[in-house]
Parts: sequence; structure tokens; C-alpha cells
Amino acid sequence: MSINYSEEQFDELLTTSSMLSEDTNESSLRPRTLNEYIGQKKAKENLSVFISAAKMRNEPLDHVLLHGPPGLGKTTLAAIIANEMNVNIRITSGPAIEKPGDLVAMLTNLNEGDILFVDEIHRLNRAYEEILYPAMEDFAIDIILGKGPAANSIHLDLPHFTLIGATTRSGQLTAPLRDRFGVTLRLELYSIEELSQIVNRSASILNIEIDGEGSHEIASRSRGTPRIANRLLKRVRDFAQVEADGRITAKVADRALSRLDVDKAGLDAIDRRMLRSIIEYYNGGPVGLDTLAATINEESVTLEDVYEPFLLQNGYLTRTQRGRCVTRKAYEHLGIEYLGQQELNL
Ligand code: ADE
Repeated sequence: MSINYSEEQFDELLTTSSMLSEDTNESSLRPRTLNEYIGQKKAKENLSVFISAAKMRNEPLDHVLLHGPPGLGKTTLAAIIANEMNVNIRITSGPAIEKPGDLVAMLTNLNEGDILFVDEIHRLNRAYEEILYPAMEDFAIDIILGKGPAANSIHLDLPHFTLIGATTRSGQLTAPLRDRFGVTLRLELYSIEELSQIVNRSASILNIEIDGEGSHEIASRSRGTPRIANRLLKRVRDFAQVEADGRITAKVADRALSRLDVDKAGLDAIDRRMLRSIIEYYNGGPVGLDTLAATINEESVTLEDVYEPFLLQNGYLTRTQRGRCVTRKAYEHLGIEYLGQQELNL
């Protein structure tokens, strides 16, 4: 196995923290400390204890697994951990690791205390996970060179590092990998109150004039997700500038969001298509995820990871053994008469 990488090859595997900060717009909105980070109270409080304890003992933080729907700030939190621990962060992702040598190269290039952040860790090739086990547990790897009787193994010690894995689906991680994370934090969808604070904070960083009702309107239509709230804020600003006096009020936000196809409850065109298809083609459900995905021409994983969490949490959709069903609330939201479809299907 070759572990010689040119600098260019190596850069392809990694996004360093300095590259993150070059991503001006997004990164300027990212909180840099736990204090600045809004919401996720439970995860934040626990993390704060673990960070303080590790610092008091002068040890690296134990390996951390962050899981939850996309857009809730897993990468941001990893960068905050690095900042609070005063260490460097190396960022890569499961699918970017194409060969075992990629992973070995990254591990051997870490410095003492560094954080290796692996986004979408559930998409890491299963065969390469085994490299991670001794790396995480003993800070060492064994590399086998050659084949058959001539095979030789070399033992490499690694610096004490912290692996932070992020995933939208912790159920897809193998048990041996999951068990090697000492800290597991689940990120939840944000409340409207928390999202309003995030919108206000972002508006002030981006010099956008917004009133309390304007930020509430954007927050309540952002599906519990800061990434969506920040994106909608920027788009609403465009409408405010071109079609109003630049200031975001509830009225301006409402008009802009309607034009963006984001309805009063925050559902977008795909959410509504998903619910409407279950009603129109499957009598309200149950329908299997793959069948539904094929019907509306979307990927099953996208529906499951991106769309379902909000629809489930807000009572538009239920998951049963036999598939997805819409609820009465979904009928009412779409203005379709409810005929008690679930009973018909039993
Ligand atoms: N921007 C995006 N997510 C955030 C959060 N959780 N707190 C503060 N600002 C954010």
C-alpha cells in the first residue's frame, strides 16, 4: 500500500480550517464559540463539560459522533470544538476517502491533539473502517505490505487525535465503529424562537435591516433548520431590496417566501408534492419509501434524510411498518377533504 501523496492529492482529500474561512459568506455566519452557538442546549451543555474536563486533564477530547438531519450545524460544531480545544481541524468526508491509503495518509499527517472531522461517515467504505478501529482505540495502525508468505506488517504510532464523525443516519454505522465514539451527540430540529435568534444574528452580520416580525416569519418557515433560515434570509433580502425599501418586515418576508414557493408552514414544493402524491396515488398511504421516491422522481435517501424529519416531527406524516402515511393535518394543510383514509386501508 502506498502512502506517498503529492501535496495536491492530499489537498483533494482535505479541507483545512483555513479553507473553511475562505468560504466568506457561509463561514462569516458560522458561530466560532459555544457561547455564540444558538440552540442545541443539551448537546452544548454536555459538550462544554467534556471540553473543560479534557482541557483540565491536558488530554485530547474523546472521539465524538454528531448525528441528526442535514443543515443543523454538525460541521459548525466540529469547528467550534477545535476552536475551544485550541487545536487544528482537518475536514474530509466518507465518500472522499476512495482508497485505504487515503485514510492512512490523513491519519499519519495529523499532529498531536488535532481533530479529524469525517462528514457523512456512514458513507465510508466498510472495508476501510477497520483501519479506524486501532487508530481510534490505540492511536496506532498496522499496515500490511505485500501478499502471501512474503507479506510484512509495519506498526505506525499515531498522534493522539480526536475523530469527529458526522452522520445523518447513525443507524447505518456498524456497531464496532459506533461503539468507539466516547461521546455521541444528537442534534435536534431548532425551535422557531431559536431560529429567530439565528436570523437576527445573521442579519446583523450581513448588515440586513430586519424587524422582529420579519425574523419570526422567516424562522417559522425554515423547517427547523438554520441552513435554510440563512438561505431564506438572503433571498428575502433580495426581494426587500428590489421590491421594497430594503427593510425586512413580516409583510415583505411573507410576500418573498410565497414567491419562493415556501408556504406558511415552511413546506416547499417537494414537501407538498410528497404529501399530495401519497394522497392522490396511494389513498393517503401506506406507501413504501422507494415507491414514493420513484413516483415523485426524487432519491429515497433525500426524502428520508432531508424531507421526512420535519414532516414527521410536525405531524404531516407517519411511518408505519407498511410504509408512509399522511395525517389528517396534511389533508387540511393541502386543502383536500379528509375521508378517513387510514381506516379504509386497514
Ligand atoms: N448559524 C447557523 N447555525 C447557527 C447556530 N446554531 N447558532 C448561531 N448561528 C448559527
